[in-house]
Amino acid sequence: MKETIASPGLSHSDVEDAYARWAPVYDLFFAATMHPGRKAAVAAINQIGGKILDVGVGTGLELPMFGPHTRVTGIDLSEPMLNMARKRVERQSLANVDALLVMDAQHLSFPDASFDAVVAPYVLSVVPEPERTLDELVRVVKPGGEIVLVNHIGAESGPMAALEAWLAKSSGALGWRPQFPWAIVGDWLAHRTDVSLIERRTLPPLSLFTLLRLRRER
Ligand SMILES: C[S@@+](CC[C@H](N)C(=O)[O-])C[C@H]1O[C@@H](n2cnc3c(N)ncnc32)[C@H](O)[C@@H]1O
Repeated sequence: MKETIASPGLSHSDVEDAYARWAPVYDLFFAATMHPGRKAAVAAINQIGGKILDVGVGTGLELPMFGPHTRVTGIDLSEPMLNMARKRVERQSLANVDALLVMDAQHLSFPDASFDAVVAPYVLSVVPEPERTLDELVRVVKPGGEIVLVNHIGAESGPMAALEAWLAKSSGALGWRPQFPWAIVGDWLAHRTDVSLIERRTLPPLSLFTLLRLRRER
């Protein structure tokens, strides 16, 4: 297992406080702008089907997109965000959602190889230790299964990098880390010979987000 890269992180209490504030208005701000990423991630998951873990499910915006051939378990650190997801499941009668649980993505309570696929849209730059989270996602997926991530990968230079550096001063209040270098995933991958990167593609709006598909090989 690889050592965690020292990266300016968010604490659990930063995340809990931020998402308790975001929960009532999250959909208003983030439903539309981040829709293409959720759609692409769930489309990849729907190709696989079976038992799915949705990590950092938030208010459950992606839940209605999962096909009827999936059984979905969602987890999130934030109870207020999960409460919004629970209301959505009830409102839309989403019969393939098995459970929505308060759980830390860095310490999943599921046994090894419990799921056919794992999806985590817009989560990796929010968790305090992304490398530990990736280790956990690999642990709970079956060999041959996929982990589908959507994330903003930080710019290396130029005006976007300057904007991200400025925003990073407020990452605790925002509830995510605007600076998220590719090296966090790239260096982790270099140490995980049992995991392959099978797709990396940018997504709208403005190529701001990146879809990553990883496969657990054994
Ligand atoms: C930007 S939101 C994304 C929500 C949803 N996936 C979407 O597409 O809108 C990030 C979510 O990750 C959750 N989160 C942050 N750290 C977490 C952790 N350690 N374990 C589980 N969930 C976490 C937050 O509470 C929040 O709901």
